[in-house]
Amino acid sequence: MAGTSDGPLRTAVIIGSTRDGRFGPVVTDWITGHIAEREDMTADVIDLVATPLPTVFPAFGQPPSAEVVVQLGEVSPRLAAADAFVIVTPEYNHSFPAALKNAIDWHNEQWHAKPVGFVSYGGLSGGLRAVEQLRVVLAELHAVTIRNTVSFHNYGEVFGGDGKPADPGCDVAAKAMLDQLTWWGHALRDAKAVRPYAV
Ligand SMILES: Cc1cc2nc3c(=O)[nH]c(=O)nc-3n(C[C@H](O)[C@H](O)[C@H](O)COP(=O)(O)O)c2cc1C
Repeated sequence: MAGTSDGPLRTAVIIGSTRDGRFGPVVTDWITGHIAEREDMTADVIDLVATPLPTVFPAFGQPPSAEVVVQLGEVSPRLAAADAFVIVTPEYNHSFPAALKNAIDWHNEQWHAKPVGFVSYGGLSGGLRAVEQLRVVLAELHAVTIRNTVSFHNYGEVFGGDGKPADPGCDVAAKAMLDQLTWWGHALRDAKAVRPYAV
């Protein structure tokens, strides 16, 4: 359960795209590399290709089928165990991918009173429109979104063959976002240990 440990913040890193040939894993590897260098966080990468969730929901009040329970079992406990989240998202038609919205919508209390940081990528916009829409969605789920983002504009020109951005400013941006994420992660985890979050 989240909130029961004094150790490093358990951070679920969600790959937002599920497209064949997607770029998302490159960006994810880069940010998880930053997390791996820190002593105050650990990363659990959730890949919605490896652990897909159905798009058909049960009726209100009805339990999911046994098959769906198995699928949820690959994702839901990991979201529940997370103290914090990093969402890696591209921009699809000025928003974020449907598979990511689906994964968000399957869950509720798993998001409550937890911080969410963003790493986005896209064309000129750098995925920022996707991020701003995610903030609105996640507010409904009682999550706390982190002010600073890491965004890759025209990402194809930014990442080198080694899978890393050449500009050291990207590493500075990653540190700033992760510093804010861990501040909120500790603050919220400590607060929940004293007083359960009121929904
Ligand atoms: C359905 C779709 C819609 C897209 N819409 C946008 C967009 O609105 N803005 C943008 O900057 N890039 C857009 N792109 C380009 C993506 O940023 C680019 O293809 C990126 O590689 C997608 O991430 P992925 O490779 O992880 O799937 C779109 C791509 C797809 C597949």
